[in-house]
Amino acid sequence: PQELPARGLHIVITAGPTREPLDPVRYLSNHSSGKMGYALAASAARLGARVTLVSGPVTQVTPEGVERIDVETALEMLEACRGLVAACDIFIGCAAVADYRVDAVAEHKIKKQEGEDGLTLKLIKNPDIIADVALKRDSASRRPFVVGFAAETRDLEAYARDKLTRKQLDMIVANDVSTQGLGFSADDNAALLLWREGEGEGGENLPPQTKTRLADAILRRALSCLPDGPTH
Ligand code: PMT
Repeated sequence: PQELPARGLHIVITAGPTREPLDPVRYLSNHSSGKMGYALAASAARLGARVTLVSGPVTQVTPEGVERIDVETALEMLEACRGLVAACDIFIGCAAVADYRVDAVAEHKIKKQEGEDGLTLKLIKNPDIIADVALKRDSASRRPFVVGFAAETRDLEAYARDKLTRKQLDMIVANDVSTQGLGFSADDNAALLLWREGEGEGGENLPPQTKTRLADAILRRALSCLPDGPTH
């Protein structure tokens, strides 16, 4: 018989980049392809969960049995997530959310200014979606179990530990996005998993492997950390 350790759980996953408009034809974004988040969604569905994927603009195919909500900007992603957190058991923030957006989106296409060498854009901070989710959860039930990612190019463990604490996450998946062939857009990834369990802490090094296999390892570890343990 198939093993379904996530049966009965609702798992919400964010994936892909956000796109922050400058004017009707231009935007700020990043290189996230959505592969890691979609691999997590596919794996969660295979493990028996009900899965909602909140996705930025990507070209990935929606995994079988997964409900997908499409968003573009960080503000749209926040709104979609806020509507889902109350009823979910695990929240995984894999999206590469733009930290900043343009202060005032131009109504018309920004014209090249004759005689000016530069153009100054004023950016303002976007809300932190995963911190919002983690802080708003019901303190009595401690649900959902919140898993964040940390995309770093140096001092991986130190920055990841800081994000785990500061954003009040239960687990963090730290990936080094400066290694060729891993991280953004690649088919493979590696991660340092760090988690808080009751009063204690844990860690595990996941070596380079396909995002599909890595997603499975991340989910199985998250399931084993749930207060009630795996359901089956
Ligand atoms: O999509 P792929 O091409 O497969 O690439 C996968 C990936 C490299 C994008 C993925 O593995 C990854 O690292 N995702 C997180 C990228 C990121 O934005 O990391 P961060 O360290 O800047 O953010 C830390 C955490 O806060 C993340 O869980 C992020 O979703 C969250 N965040 C960040 C900013 C913000 N405004 N709101 C957030 O919720």
